Amino acid sequence: MKTQASPEPLAARAEALPRPEEGKPVPYLWRAYVRPTAGRLALGAASAALAGIAALLIPQVLRRVIDDLGSHPSVSVLLVGVGLMTLLGLIEGAMYLARRQFTIKPAVAIERAMREDLYARLQRLPAGFHDAWSSGQLLSRSMSDLSLVRRYLAFGGVMTVSSAILIAVGLVMMYLLDWRFFLLYAVIVVPMALASFAFRTRFNRASRRVMDLQGDLATTVEESVQGIRVLKAFGRADFTARQLVQQLAGLRKAELYKASTLGWFIGLITAVPALTMAAALIGGIVLVARDQMTPGTLVAYFATAAVLTNPLQDMGQLIGMFVSTKAALQRHIEIMGVERDIRSPESPARPASEGRLELHDVGFRYPDAKPDSEPLLTGVSLSLRPGETMALVGETGSGKSTLLNLIPRLYEAGEGRVLVDGADVRELDTDDLRTRIAVAFEDATLFSDTVENNVLLGVRDQDPQARRAALEEALEVAQAHFVERLPEGAQTQIGEEGLSLSGGQRQRLALARVVAAKPRIMLLDDPLSALDVSTEERVIEGLGRVLADTTTLIVAHRPSTVALADRVALLEDGTVTAVGPHHELLESNEHYRHVIASLDSQDTLEDVLDDDACRDAEQHGREGR
Ligand SMILES: Nc1ncnc2c1ncn2[C@@H]1O[C@H](COP(=O)(O)OP(=O)(O)OP(=O)(O)O)[C@@H](O)[C@H]1O
Ligand SMILES: [Mg+2]
Repeated sequence: MKTQASPEPLAARAEALPRPEEGKPVPYLWRAYVRPTAGRLALGAASAALAGIAALLIPQVLRRVIDDLGSHPSVSVLLVGVGLMTLLGLIEGAMYLARRQFTIKPAVAIERAMREDLYARLQRLPAGFHDAWSSGQLLSRSMSDLSLVRRYLAFGGVMTVSSAILIAVGLVMMYLLDWRFFLLYAVIVVPMALASFAFRTRFNRASRRVMDLQGDLATTVEESVQGIRVLKAFGRADFTARQLVQQLAGLRKAELYKASTLGWFIGLITAVPALTMAAALIGGIVLVARDQMTPGTLVAYFATAAVLTNPLQDMGQLIGMFVSTKAALQRHIEIMGVERDIRSPESPARPASEGRLELHDVGFRYPDAKPDSEPLLTGVSLSLRPGETMALVGETGSGKSTLLNLIPRLYEAGEGRVLVDGADVRELDTDDLRTRIAVAFEDATLFSDTVENNVLLGVRDQDPQARRAALEEALEVAQAHFVERLPEGAQTQIGEEGLSLSGGQRQRLALARVVAAKPRIMLLDDPLSALDVSTEERVIEGLGRVLADTTTLIVAHRPSTVALADRVALLEDGTVTAVGPHHELLESNEHYRHVIASLDSQDTLEDVLDDDACRDAEQHGREGR
């Protein structure tokens, strides 16, 4: 929210990305991100290969110099040789630099694009997705996994290509020096290539496990930091500490397994060439003594082998890196590939914005509910006239918040129809639907940003004057006078990185956010619970004034809130059993009396049943309209 003034283009781009096919991370990376910068990356690989080839030419010069000096020693041969070797060294250095120049930029750009796309996708996923995925997993996927991808693109991939070229060229040069020695060397490369193949799958599984465990760890740490007060208050700081220790032990085991898998591989890759070289040295000395090989050739062979040692060993690391990156990419794709089960239709309906809200026989169960259990909501029918305020009342856990979530399609109603302005919400463009509706959720979530940006979240008008007016009005209606007393007023940073606000203060800002968005339909999930009764009355009065023709569905936990609504709907056993003005329901409905009486211990039963108070309130509601 801080960085993205208008997220639409970003979201649209994320939508347009190719669909990752199951289990094919590399082609996906190529099609979605790498192809546009492939030229630069290829140049990077070419530079790296050139650097390697320059290094491989040095032994050739060395051979000539040694052999020439052996037959007819002269200063000029020495000078030319040294000069050539210096030049080759310089070329190697320059190419090394060029490789970095070519690859860093595209790699960083790709990492950034992937992060943005991931974020945009996360914003568009159905709310049900976030129930199933922990925030730590998402965090580790968007941060560490993607930097792994960047490192591979900037370094690993390019080095793999250039090392492969280097090894091939080196082998040709060895063949030209002496075919027997070439054979000896080739015998090492083959088993190592085979070893790396067998090694891939094992290492893949090990690194995938380490990453998953890291994600879980991030979740635990995040939760214990966020919930530190609760844990302290209950004296249970040691509880998460113990959980953390257990997770760390698991992670350690997985890391050790991964490291030992890698250790075996590196051991093999180092020991086998060393033994082969020892054999070659003995054979070479015999051949030179019998005059079947020049000393220069022997030196050049070993110099070439020395140049190849690093790329060969790197190959092992690079394979490890490739496998980890592939696992990281797989995890990334798992999120990018989640189907949006809530989509906008191709040709959406565009009914006039009146603020009509109807529910017909709506039924719903959470995707993770027990399959044989009763649905949470069944046959819920409601009809709100434009401008009407309806309170939704029910026992705790009866599904009030869930019902509200169905209206802006945060969850999809399983049965029945939700109509906004006469159109089924499934026929409306989701963005359009969510501009008609504004929701104040139960937990007043604020972002780490200024008060102003938090309140104006739903305001699309960019004109500074209009924004200031909207802000002032919204704060006034929400009775958020405390903002004036904050250190920097509406510019004060709040949220996790800023000033902490009280629960009631946060609630009022969340309410102000809804007011500022000027919706036609307002869904309020118990937004006034932290206010005292007289402030609550002022808020409702302000809402009635500013959003006079806004339709409001308000979940109420207090008799005072209920009394201010035009009508009340009673949610009972998963369905709406009664709708009517507060005092009528009080008289006629036993369950309603029971719920109202149990709603709030602050308001005594006498207050609730005080007929005069009820009638006053109702009068007030009518005048307000
Ligand atoms: N994301 C979810 N996934 C699965 N089940 C859920 C989810 N959210 C809520 N539930 C379950 O659905 C039921 C209704 O929850 P809901 O939050 O709608 O109740 P509520 O009427 O708003 O309660 P309260 O008055 O306490 O706010 C609860 O039993 C709850 O366990
Ligand atoms: Mg609720």
